[in-house]
Amino acid sequence: MHHFGTLLLATALLSHGALAGGNTADSTASTRTEEARALVGRFVGQLKPQLQQAMAAGGPAHAVAVCAEVAPALMDSLSAETGWQVRRVSLQARNAERAEPDAWERAVLQQFAARQAAGTPASQLQQAAVTDGRFRYMQAQGTEGLCLACHGENLSPAVQEALDTHYPDDRATGYQLGEVRGAISLIAPAS
Ligand code: HEC
Repeated sequence: MHHFGTLLLATALLSHGALAGGNTADSTASTRTEEARALVGRFVGQLKPQLQQAMAAGGPAHAVAVCAEVAPALMDSLSAETGWQVRRVSLQARNAERAEPDAWERAVLQQFAARQAAGTPASQLQQAAVTDGRFRYMQAQGTEGLCLACHGENLSPAVQEALDTHYPDDRATGYQLGEVRGAISLIAPAS
C-alpha cells in the first residue's frame, strides 16, 4: 500500500499550486484537467466506434489488425495536433514498445487496480499530478464485455493467432469483467 502515499502527495501538490504558486496555479491545473478529460473523450470517442465497426464487419481476429494500426495512429495524431503526449499504458502490456508504464504511471496503475478491487468502477478512476513541472493525467480503462474477446481468458484460436502475429510478447490477456485493463496517460505540453 506504500504507493498511496506518493499519490496523495502528488494530489496535495496539485491542489496547493505546484506550478507557480497560489490561485494562478490552481486555475492552470483545473484548466489542464479539463483539457485532459476532453482529450480522453476524443481518444475513446474515436477508437471505440472503429473497434466496434471492425468487430461487426470481420469479427475480433480481423479487429486485432485494425486495432494494431488505428490505436497507435490515433495517439500519434492527437499528440501532433495538441502538443500533449498521448499514450496508453498497462501493468500487463500488449504493445511492449508503447505501453510500458514509467515509475509514476506504474504507481498510479497499481493504485487504480487496488481501488477497483475495493469496489470503485474503473470509469471513476483518474489521477492528476504535477511532476517535474509538468502536468500529468491518467484515466483508467475498465474491461467491458466487448474487450473480453481480445483481453479475456478464453480467446478464440483465430484471435490468439492474430495476437501472436502482431504481439509475440503479449501480456494483455486473462482479464475479468470490470478489471482495470490499463489507462490513457497524458502529459501536457510545457507551458
Ligand atoms: C479486437 C481485439 C481487441 C478488443 C476487442 C479490445 N482490444 Fe484493447 N488492444 C487490442 C490491441 C491489438 C492492442 C494493441 C494496440 C497497440 O498496438 O497499441 C490493444 C491495446 C489496448 C490497450 C493499451 C495497452 C496495451 O496493453 O498495449 C488498452 C488500455 C486496451 N487495449 C484496452 C481495451 C479496452 C478497455 C477494450 C474494450 C473496450 C479493448 N481494449 C478491446 C485489441 C483489442
